[in-house]
Amino acid sequence: MSIIDEINDLKKKKNAVILSHYYVNDEIKAVSDYTGDSYYLSKIARDTDADIIVLCGVSFMGESAKLLNPDKKVLLPDITADCPMAHMASVDYIEKVRSRYDDLAVVCYINSTLLLKCSSDVCVTSANALKVVSTLPNKNILFIPDENLGRYVAEQLPDKNFIFNPGFCPIHKNITAAELAECKIKHPDAEVLSHPECTPDVLAISDYIGSTSGILKYAGESTSKSFIICTECGILYELREKYPDKTFYTVGAPTCADMKKVTPEKVLDVLRNEKNEVFVDDALKQKALAALDKMLELAK
Ligand code: 13P
Ligand code: SF4
Repeated sequence: MSIIDEINDLKKKKNAVILSHYYVNDEIKAVSDYTGDSYYLSKIARDTDADIIVLCGVSFMGESAKLLNPDKKVLLPDITADCPMAHMASVDYIEKVRSRYDDLAVVCYINSTLLLKCSSDVCVTSANALKVVSTLPNKNILFIPDENLGRYVAEQLPDKNFIFNPGFCPIHKNITAAELAECKIKHPDAEVLSHPECTPDVLAISDYIGSTSGILKYAGESTSKSFIICTECGILYELREKYPDKTFYTVGAPTCADMKKVTPEKVLDVLRNEKNEVFVDDALKQKALAALDKMLELAK
């Protein structure tokens, strides 16, 4: 039996569901039951009645799935797959800023550790950040850990006072405005679609800014025939599959090494041996879940 057949067989036998982020290797998406962005995956994880969730992505995604559906067994194909940005803020910094403002709301990008979620009031993903923050009554917003996403949201909510944190995604940071400008010269008819984790100078010369699911939707709805995509290159699989008559370029080949750690062999291994189970510390569970639940409520 091939690895893929064995995965499909075990999925049925064990009532397991495979969720994968757009950035993982293409062959993983082919065996996944659901592929999507962080927001979509968190809703699927919360609502599934499968007994086992295999989360093909990085560790904060596995933790979020476990928080949202604690009775399920959540397995990570590679426990070392981690998002570096998730660690780029500190509880000390949050507490320091809290002491300065009475009405502060701490808004935490879902790409964050459990500890950071625990010290926050609400989580967001790139797909719902603007909507969630705009519904908060607070004037003062501390946005952690991603400064670029925070600044993008802040620009559209000028009545609020944002405090930022110097966190970033190394993969999106590597997409430079100079290289993008060169790419635009080569492909003058292409529209530029960028993820808000990109730097402000890249966003300034983009035609559309949105989450991975937003980029996919926009590319389908636009009358343009070609696009320069400024996000991790895994998204090309869905773009080319959904819109085979359109052309997609990238600036270099932005690759998240952590997302790419997930392989079919590792998926099979965790399914077969039920290993790499995600557990969340009891002491952290309630507060982190409250921040995630608030996001799901406000983003509805
Ligand atoms: P979205 O899938 O929410 O757009 O986020 C991108 C990302 O970097 C996930 O790690
Ligand atoms: Fe983290 Fe960036 Fe990788 Fe997303 S692409 S998981 S933000 S390092």
